Amino acid sequence: MMAKKTASQTAKKKVGRINNAAETLDGMTVLVCGGAGFIGSNFIHYLLGKYPEVKIINLDKLAYSGNLDNLRGIAKDPRYTFVRGDIADPTKINSIFKKFKPDYVINFAAETHVDRSIHVGALEFIHTNVVGVFNILEAVKATEHIKKFVQVSTDEVYGSLPLESEEKFRETTAFAPNAPYAATKAGGDVLCRAYHSTWGIPAVVTHCSNNYGPRQYPEKLIPFFVLRMLEGKTLPLYGDGRHVRDWIYVFDHCRALELCLLRGVPGAVYNIGADNEMSNREIAALILGHFGKDDSSIEFVGDRPGHDRRYAIDSSRIQKELGWKPTYRFEDAFRETIIWYTDNRKWIESVRKKTGVFNPHIDLWRKHNIKK
Ligand SMILES: NC(=O)c1ccc[n+]([C@@H]2O[C@H](COP(=O)([O-])OP(=O)(O)OC[C@H]3O[C@@H](n4cnc5c(N)ncnc54)[C@H](O)[C@@H]3O)[C@@H](O)[C@H]2O)c1
Repeated sequence: MMAKKTASQTAKKKVGRINNAAETLDGMTVLVCGGAGFIGSNFIHYLLGKYPEVKIINLDKLAYSGNLDNLRGIAKDPRYTFVRGDIADPTKINSIFKKFKPDYVINFAAETHVDRSIHVGALEFIHTNVVGVFNILEAVKATEHIKKFVQVSTDEVYGSLPLESEEKFRETTAFAPNAPYAATKAGGDVLCRAYHSTWGIPAVVTHCSNNYGPRQYPEKLIPFFVLRMLEGKTLPLYGDGRHVRDWIYVFDHCRALELCLLRGVPGAVYNIGADNEMSNREIAALILGHFGKDDSSIEFVGDRPGHDRRYAIDSSRIQKELGWKPTYRFEDAFRETIIWYTDNRKWIESVRKKTGVFNPHIDLWRKHNIKK
């Protein structure tokens, strides 16, 4: 019987394969996990638009936020294959790796809604955001030819910054997640670190700030507020509405992720943000202004437990090392985003039909805890 390789023998072998990425994704097979959701579907559109000879395999479980309508225009593109499956199912992951032999892997698949992690429970989050990432890492470890694995993560793993400070999250900022969602994302991220340190897995982790753009499931702030305006309803704001997020247009994020696939240093972490801090109240005011409404359409509701006050990203590392910078003007991209939702009522209605009421917990809170 052949002796089993020790962990350190395997590690040496894997470390030897770092930095073998190409400068183009043409001719490459990219496995996109979670490509039917908001950012993943925009990323697939972005890659297919840019690379005439890329092959994309989209593995998605089609959880409530996964939507094949997001990919309708490219469903018959010969460069694109959809496979329904769960990243937390190791048999499925292994069979995909075996069948399609991806050169690159990028993981968007996640349970992503902070409120659900609080009101519905964290088990699904642990299942997908930790066990799912573990399965992908195991599959990458068992495959010699993977050039890069990018784990798409969030700035929420760093916790909260004071409103008054100028401080920003750097790649060296210690993790301090406050919501179960953020804690499970942090779990996936540190697994990537450990798999790189132990076995030389070419994993790169990204921490991006809040995205806006087309095809976002309407429980998230911007599409939710646009929808409320279209329905002639008020905009419910948590707490005092002064919570600050650093907003980035989804296609700027997609370009950053493409560079991480191509040029990201295995084992590295990159923060991605567009230096565009805005409070939820300011976002609400912009949406109200677009629809010719004023502050009287804002309704302050009780705050979310553990609600992080401020996120701000220092993205100087990815700018300096990978040559990325945000290119979209907020005013233009934000207006385009509102118009996309107002022009795509069919898309909204089909999502609504599938999942029912968006953010039902807000109505419950309104009853008990209205704040002036
Ligand atoms: N939206 C943001 O502002 C933002 C900001 C920073 C980071 N991120 C990260 O980007 C990634 C994508 O976010 P999004 O906003 O596009 O989320 P999303 O909820 O729109 O999409 C998630 C996708 O993953 C799929 N999925 C869920 N569980 C799965 C499983 N077990 N197996 C296979 N597929 C599964 C869903 O069906 C869906 O298509 C997430 O990892 C999130 O943490 C998002």
